[in-house]
Order: sequence, then C-alpha cells, then structure tokens
Amino acid sequence: MERRQLTERAPWKSLEDHAAQLRGTHLRSLFADDPTRGERLAAEGAGLYLDYAKQRATDETIRRLVALAEDCGLRAKIDAMFRGDKINTTEDRAVLHVALRAPKDRSVVVDGRDVMPDVHAVLDAMARFATSVRDGSFRGHSGERIRNVVNVGIGGSDLGPVMAYRALRPFSDRGLTFRFVSNVDGTDFAEATRDLDPKETLFLIASKTFTTQETMTNAATARAWVLGTFGGDEAAIAKHFVAISTNAAEVTKFGIDTANMFGFWDWVGGRYSMTSAIGLSTMIAIGPERYRELLAGFHAMDEHYRTAPFEKNLPALMGLLAVWNQSFLGAHTIAVLPYDQYLERFPAYLQQLAMESNGKQVTLDGTRVSYETGPIYWGEPGTNGQHSFYQLIHQGTKLIPCDFIAFCRSHHRLPPHHDLLMANVFAQAEALAFGKTAEEVAAEGTAPALVPHRVFDGNRPSSTILADELKPHALGALVALYEHSIFTQGAIFDVNPFDQWGVELGKALAKRIAPELTSDAPLAHDSSTNTLIRRYRARR
Ligand code: F6P
Repeated sequence: MERRQLTERAPWKSLEDHAAQLRGTHLRSLFADDPTRGERLAAEGAGLYLDYAKQRATDETIRRLVALAEDCGLRAKIDAMFRGDKINTTEDRAVLHVALRAPKDRSVVVDGRDVMPDVHAVLDAMARFATSVRDGSFRGHSGERIRNVVNVGIGGSDLGPVMAYRALRPFSDRGLTFRFVSNVDGTDFAEATRDLDPKETLFLIASKTFTTQETMTNAATARAWVLGTFGGDEAAIAKHFVAISTNAAEVTKFGIDTANMFGFWDWVGGRYSMTSAIGLSTMIAIGPERYRELLAGFHAMDEHYRTAPFEKNLPALMGLLAVWNQSFLGAHTIAVLPYDQYLERFPAYLQQLAMESNGKQVTLDGTRVSYETGPIYWGEPGTNGQHSFYQLIHQGTKLIPCDFIAFCRSHHRLPPHHDLLMANVFAQAEALAFGKTAEEVAAEGTAPALVPHRVFDGNRPSSTILADELKPHALGALVALYEHSIFTQGAIFDVNPFDQWGVELGKALAKRIAPELTSDAPLAHDSSTNTLIRRYRARR
C-alpha cells in the first residue's frame, strides 16, 4: 500500500488539532496553571541541560511529537545511520560521522570492512603530526619553527575548523597563529597572510574532493607565495603543505606527497567532517589530549541520541520542537544566540549544517514535498544581538523561536562580566515568554499614546541550553546535539540531509562564465546576465 504524504497521516493531523487547541493559550497561563513546568520540561544529556519550558508546548505536545517521530521511523533511521547503512541514498553512501568519534573497540562495517581501525590510524597520525608542529620538531624548509598555521578550505572544510578554533582559544597554543582562508575573493588570502613569514607558515589544504574551485585557487596562490620565498624550490612543498582529503589522486596532482596527506572517507559528509582529519587545525591548536576530550563530548551526545527515549533525548526534542514551531506554529527561522564570545562563529557553522542538510524540496523517493522542510538558521552572539535585531524578535510580526546557549562559568574571572552576561540571557528568554501587558505598561505611568508601542505580547518561544563551561567536551556535545537535531528534522520531513545537489547549478554556471569574463566571445545568457558581464568586461 502506498504510504500517505506526511501531512495526511494521523500523527500529523493530531498535531494540527493540538496546535488549534493551544492557539490563544499564552505561555503566561501555561506557567501559571502548571507550577512545576519549569522543572519538568527539561532534559539532560552529555553534560548539557536543555530547558524547553518556554516553548509553546505541553507534555501532550511532546507526546504527539514523539508519536510523529515514531510514525516517521526515527528510531529505525537512527539505528540505520549508526549501523553504517547507505542512508545517503542519492549518493549511495553510508553516513558515519558518528564513527569518527567512537572508541577503538567499536566495530562499524561498511562494504564488508570495519572502518574503525582506519579512523584510529588517521587520528594517531594526526596526533603525531600535531605534536611535531607544537613541539617544533616539524620545521619549515629552511629550518624555521612553524609559527603560523593556515587552513585553506571552504564550507565544511572551513566552518567547523574556524568555529572550533575560535571556541577553544583558551586551550590553544598561543605561540601559534591560526588563520582560515576560504573565499575565492583574493582579499581573504591577502589579508590572512600579509603579516606572515612563509618560512614559518604551514598550509593545511582541506578539501574532501580536492576539486573545489575556491580552495584550489587559494591553494595555488599559497603554493606560489611559498615557492616565491624559496626561489621556486619544489622541495619546500613537503615542509609547508599538508593535504586533508579523500582524493589522493588530486592531492598528488597538486604536488603534495601523499605522505603529507591525512585521509578521510566518502561516508563523511563535508558539513559533518569536523571530527575527521578536517579537524587537524583544531588538533594542532589545542593538542591531541584536548582533541580527544572534544571527540569524547561528541561521542557522549551520539550515545545519548542513540539510546535515550525520545521524551528525554535532547537532539530528538530539539528537532521535534523545530518541526513543531515551523510546521504547526508558522515560524520559519530559528535564531541561535550563544551567550559566549568564543562561540562567535557557531551560528555561521550551523547555517551550513542545517540548511545544506534540510534545504530540500523532494522526499527520499523523489516526490515533491507538500510542506515546508528545513527552517532557516541564523544568529549572532549575545548580547550584541540584543542591540541589533532582538527588537524584531520581541515586537515584530514574525514568530522567531530562539535557542539561547550559555555557560555557568566563564574562562575569564572578570567580575561582574559573567553575571551580567547570564542576567541578560535569562532576562531575554523571560521577556520573550511573558512580555508585558498594556495594563502593566499603563500602570507604570506611561502616556496612553505610548502604551501600544511599549507592549510586549510575549508568548515567543525559546529553549535554553546551559552547560558548565565551554570546554572541548562541551563543544563536542553541543555540535553533536545540533547534528542530531537536524537529522531528526530530516527524518520527519523524509528528506535526504546528506546530499547537496542544490549547490551544483551555480558552480557549473560560474565555470562557464569565468572564461567569458576575460574574452570577448559572444554571450548567450539571458539579457540581464549578458548586460552585467558586458559592463564588467568594460570596466574590470
Ligand atoms: O558547498 C558545497 C560543498 O560541497 C560542501 O558540501 C562542502 O562542505 C564544500 O563544498 C567544500 O567541499 P570540499 O571539502 O570538497 O572542498
């Protein structure tokens, strides 16, 4: 029997009914009528505490969302991923980022081969190399100590490394400078290297495919920059370039010896690759021991996701609440608001993770969806956002669920900073949920004409993720939390979160246009594109 579309099935319909019943129920009354709600609507796992009491949801909502998850086969889908089944069906690949952080004694078999010995062999090789850079035994071509590490990559080969480096700076070797070059805009390379000495600089060329235009262009520029210093002596390459890739043939073609290559596998998606060899810059920065703590944090959340009942399962709850907010309450975006300066690049990292994964228009079997798929993720660290876009979240006409992320302890004991930071995060969530009524505003003596301007409707949902301190373990758990929340959403929407065909068309057109910009060959695009190209040709 043909399976009905998601929105036609009983658990979906029951959630629609439930949303209709809850419409008009304010968070104020949900809290007033249920004094233990704040303690009950929370869950803990892998060292993270998730408060979702300020979501517009009740125990009944969670029950119905869990019923939807079960109907969508979430449990079986999780098991299939962890087992190494080829759940990335459009590319016929397993999806095993969870194997990258699993312990040595686990066995995960793909195409008849246990991948775990390979995973740990690469981790061990990374540790040896990272140690040799950190202790100065690996040196540049002219014997100088390496003082600068430049990761060249884009998308998943950049965003995870940048985010993790920034997040874990308190643990990084401050004698080393780290830079990240991603954009094909030459400004990125020029600014990243302008104050560096090539003799002291190591490039990590990070690209799963080793064919990405931006990365290969930047890598070629880096190669010329280094060789320029060494009078074109190609022997310098081995001392200043390392490749991180799945594509040994292209690495060799570029001129990097595969002895200087750290491999990974096609079953690691780019945006899920920060615990593969793509994490080499992170490991050089914080050292192998701390890197293992990061992996342990990921693994703890992986295990929590794999084993905890959905009602107590952080990634499942977050994923289901994202579906609830979008599909039943009409919200289209999720603001991720870390109250920790070290997480400044976390929202950018999540944008790729979430939107390249679930920004899909067809289900696994190719049927066009009749419902919205992945929500838009965006954000900024607090409290900066408060003085920028929070106005719209508090009083605008759009519903924007927020994820607040905060830590009980700061790396910097600079009273009163951390208490003020935390006061702000708790205050924002409270203000969004409860708001301020016209009566309350008027009672403050506000002029009647101003009352409507100063009313806060409230009833704006948020979750708060609280951890003790931003250490490698906590970061790993946090990233895995979002990875699996996004998996949960993909399972409900019945899309493939692990391909990204949507990036191909633009790439192909850029390839076609690039040579046209430097020639006067006739143009056969639309009239707008033709005019823009002609104008560029005339003025470049
Ligand atoms: O944007 C498309 C994409 O393929 C991403 O999925 C990927 O993370 C990025 O390009 C970089 O790819 P690569 O690591 O192969 O250079």
